Amino acid sequence: MFESKDLLGIKDLSPEEISYILDTASNFKDVLKRDIKKVPPLRGKTVVSLFFEPSTRTKTSFALAAKRLSADFVNFSVSTSSVVKGESIRDTALTIQSLGADFVLIRHSSSGVPHFLSKIVDMSVINAGDGANEHPTQALLDLLTIQSHKKSFKGLSVSIIGDIAHSRVAKSNIYALTKLGAHVRVICPPTLMPADVNRLGVEVYHSIDDGIKDADVIMTLRLQLERQTKGYLPSLREYFKLYGINHDRVKLAKKDAIVMHPGPMNRGVEIASSVADGPQSVILEQVTNGIAVRMAVLYLLGGVRK
Ligand code: NCD
Repeated sequence: MFESKDLLGIKDLSPEEISYILDTASNFKDVLKRDIKKVPPLRGKTVVSLFFEPSTRTKTSFALAAKRLSADFVNFSVSTSSVVKGESIRDTALTIQSLGADFVLIRHSSSGVPHFLSKIVDMSVINAGDGANEHPTQALLDLLTIQSHKKSFKGLSVSIIGDIAHSRVAKSNIYALTKLGAHVRVICPPTLMPADVNRLGVEVYHSIDDGIKDADVIMTLRLQLERQTKGYLPSLREYFKLYGINHDRVKLAKKDAIVMHPGPMNRGVEIASSVADGPQSVILEQVTNGIAVRMAVLYLLGGVRK
């Protein structure tokens, strides 16, 4: 069912493969509720993280996922490595492979780096976020979270609000949700809308009130200021006024709508604190589900040099 060597993105997965990963992750969720949370399938395998951008949730939950599966986990610290002496990413990756790694988790500010590495190494490459392109395990953990609150993805209305143009989380979620039959609406200022939005199979809104109306899921995103090359917004205060998720806006969605954010959150920019900490927020559940999803991905790829 899942034959690939790597997980590079959601774009190339079939709906069946996505569902298979989610089913596997659900089983691991049960393992994580046990007293002893460790299982043996990756005993003797080595997972190395190679992150060229900051991370809290992704790196920590990958580390815990690897350890729960009995693999060894090593964090390759870019800032104290030979990368700062000018070593190329190709040489760094081949070095990690020669040290005996079975998996490399790669996060990089340039889109396509995981795809490039997948062609030159035998170990499994997992994309942990490449530029504004994709962040597949984030979308999978978001799906797992939605699944535990909603009956089915078919016909579900999901409103994604924020920096769609620069967000890899938005891209991976759009691919995943549309493949599973959800209706996706994207809401943002015209300057933050991707030029090829019409090819993504989503409905486009510039007014947040129209875009949130009757939604089942409200997914808000961090403004990717590090990826914005020019002034796309007059000010953060104005952004919050026009696109921030506050209590009144949540009330426009369905009564049982859930509110999501991949983190890190900028309170008072994308989301009001009262909503982030409110009863409809599933933000910390998303974090917890990250471990089960990453266990599923590591387990299904298997660390077998395919
Ligand atoms: C996201 C990322 O790095 O793409 N964070 C994460 O992995 N949870 C989202 C973001 O940084 O905005």
